[in-house]
Amino acid sequence: MLSNIAMRKRLRRACEVGVFRCEFSREIVAFMRGDGRLDLVDTFGPGGVGSGDVDGGCFTVVDGDVLRRLAVEYAMTVDDGARVSVYAMSSLEWARIAAGACIEYDFVYLDADHGYESVSSDLSAYWPLVSPGGWLCGHDYSATTRCKDTSHLAGMGVGRAVDEFVDTLQANGSAVEFNLAMDGYSSFAIRKPSLA
Ligand SMILES: C[S@@+](CC[C@H](N)C(=O)[O-])C[C@H]1O[C@@H](n2cnc3c(N)ncnc32)[C@H](O)[C@@H]1O
Repeated sequence: MLSNIAMRKRLRRACEVGVFRCEFSREIVAFMRGDGRLDLVDTFGPGGVGSGDVDGGCFTVVDGDVLRRLAVEYAMTVDDGARVSVYAMSSLEWARIAAGACIEYDFVYLDADHGYESVSSDLSAYWPLVSPGGWLCGHDYSATTRCKDTSHLAGMGVGRAVDEFVDTLQANGSAVEFNLAMDGYSSFAIRKPSLA
């Protein structure tokens, strides 16, 4: 998914919401411009935080303080911390701050709380932060045949929230582009129309 998106234009400013061990963060950085900036947003707990890999396997629980330290250490490895920032707060707190600072992203990846209400709120909060022609993406839209373990789908509301969000945009006349990437748990990508 990232290679298809970045082929059109290398990323200038991106945000990953739900970071865990910075595994996908590293992939995002690889698709950014040399001066591109990445904002990493995660509550990092409290307590243990669990996550699986893109195909739904290898579910692991890691202490939130350890995750926060890993993120700060990772940020320092990219141009001495000049291009990657870590925000230890909820998705909605950061969206409010970013809106106040008039930050615009050409790529946002939502992978935080996967409940229906939370995903709906994240989609609404981050859509205004996406620049024209930019992408609002996220993980766990649905399980595909590559999925190693579908048990994590219980309690997830990503697919329903995304479908409703896209339907509403289209009903309001927005010509958004919608794509899915076929990992075990598929990622979704919603592209905001470019300015005419
Ligand atoms: C599935 S993991 C993220 C995996 C990561 N994107 C990757 O590809 O390796 C989910 C992360 O979201 C964080 N999280 C959960 N709810 C959140 C919220 N409301 N705001 C910010 N982060 C949240 C958790 O602490 C956890 O690290």
